[in-house]
Amino acid sequence: NRAHLTVDPHFVVGPINRRLFGSFVEHLGRCVYDGIYEPGHPSADEEGFRTDVIDLVRELGVTAVRYPGGNFVSGYRWEDGVGPREERPRRLDLAWHSTETNEVGLDEFASWLSKVDAELMYAVNLGTRGVQEALDVLEYANVRSGTRLSDWRVANGVAEPHRVRMWCLGNEMDGPWQLGHGTAQDYAQLAVKTARAMRQLDPDLELVACGSSGAGMPTFGTWERVVLEETYDEVDYISCHAYYEPKNGDYGSFLASAVNMDRFIDSVAATADHVKAVRGSDKTMQISFDEWNVWYQSRYNEVDRITHIDEWPVAPRLLEDSYSVADAVVFANLMISLVRHADRVTSASLAQLVNVIAPIMTEPGGPAWRQTTFFPFAITSQWATGQTLELKLDSPTYETALYGAVPVVDAVATHDAEAGATSVFLVNRSLDQEVTVEIDTSTLGAVTLEAAHLLHDDDMHAANTLEQPERVGLRPNDSVVVGDRSVAVTLPPVSWTALRLR
Ligand code: AHR
Repeated sequence: NRAHLTVDPHFVVGPINRRLFGSFVEHLGRCVYDGIYEPGHPSADEEGFRTDVIDLVRELGVTAVRYPGGNFVSGYRWEDGVGPREERPRRLDLAWHSTETNEVGLDEFASWLSKVDAELMYAVNLGTRGVQEALDVLEYANVRSGTRLSDWRVANGVAEPHRVRMWCLGNEMDGPWQLGHGTAQDYAQLAVKTARAMRQLDPDLELVACGSSGAGMPTFGTWERVVLEETYDEVDYISCHAYYEPKNGDYGSFLASAVNMDRFIDSVAATADHVKAVRGSDKTMQISFDEWNVWYQSRYNEVDRITHIDEWPVAPRLLEDSYSVADAVVFANLMISLVRHADRVTSASLAQLVNVIAPIMTEPGGPAWRQTTFFPFAITSQWATGQTLELKLDSPTYETALYGAVPVVDAVATHDAEAGATSVFLVNRSLDQEVTVEIDTSTLGAVTLEAAHLLHDDDMHAANTLEQPERVGLRPNDSVVVGDRSVAVTLPPVSWTALRLR
């Protein structure tokens, strides 16, 4: 079993925007409360943030964080979360049938972001609210002082404006589950009015219109076209969301989930380019893939979902998926797909960051640990720098129920001229066969191997848990052979390898 690929730094897809390594913190389950924020925890700092979690987020290499939702944002009143804590109201969160205590809001979250060194990407509520509230939160966040809302921020102890550049115009407004969901026309009208108003206040914003919450949505394609026809001149990004899980034990299709992500991105880019052509516009719409992950959504629907009128828990354990090695290989392949599309996908958010479908887990009063998905994210964020290269890949294929014949090996390569480094990220999707990949590096000149990480386990269902937090980790891929004009590496079945060449 052999595959071949050619890495040539002369052929470039595009520069890799650091925002590609963003994540997502929603007021959902234990992501905020008992996740990033736990005032009673032994590691908590003076603001109540867990410093063990801060350390892990920094190690993960997260560059931007979308906040405060998600479905939550479509019923959220941002002003509940600012000002003196003791005056903040407790509210019903209809999205997750929970009680929101509002102990953490915009100012605290911005402070936490400065500790993890990441940018804020803020979502406004276009579910139950609209233009005025978007303007209000923008004034509160970005105006220096001298007006009612900016002075309110100053009075709340935040003298400097947050200067938030990226704003999401609502969340998943195509989804019937979303508070305030309507037709594409309804949303497009509201989004364009909101965008124009926000730009009148601050012309430097980067705005994201809601695309589809999945490529399988019945309105997929039409939704993007209608929304972009209305908003094209006012927004910079259209969003994509995608979650994957194995269905009926079909691991062959699950391991090929990135094929679906590739097609999704290509279809949204084509739809946006259609609108561009019709309008005769010079502007190319960017894609913000601002929710992506493996998510055992069927388990949430069947087991976790809370609906009873008397049940509104604070920070319940929701969407706390435990990720296996197989999940992490799929996850790593999704990252390959995002990096491969660096020319169009210039922002992405791993959903989510802590406890909720997350690479980082915590126990109240106890430890924090890395899930299997932590490792490919951290290494890709660290090594996928510079430019994405056009890759020529020749791989054996296998049949899948969902996507037909797909390549067994998938890969992407990046080249950082300044650092003098080339990285290659590879997955083997085969359930039982190892594959040796021959990489033609002749145009790079003489190369040496800096490091080769491997994520693999004889048990593809192995995971890290509270009891065994270090059961799975990275190890070196010792099979690498560096030749004069090529590099050979063997990939075990269901595995991810990252190579760094100098
Ligand atoms: O990330 C979990 C949920 O998935 C988000 O709240 C929503 O936007 C999506 O459906």
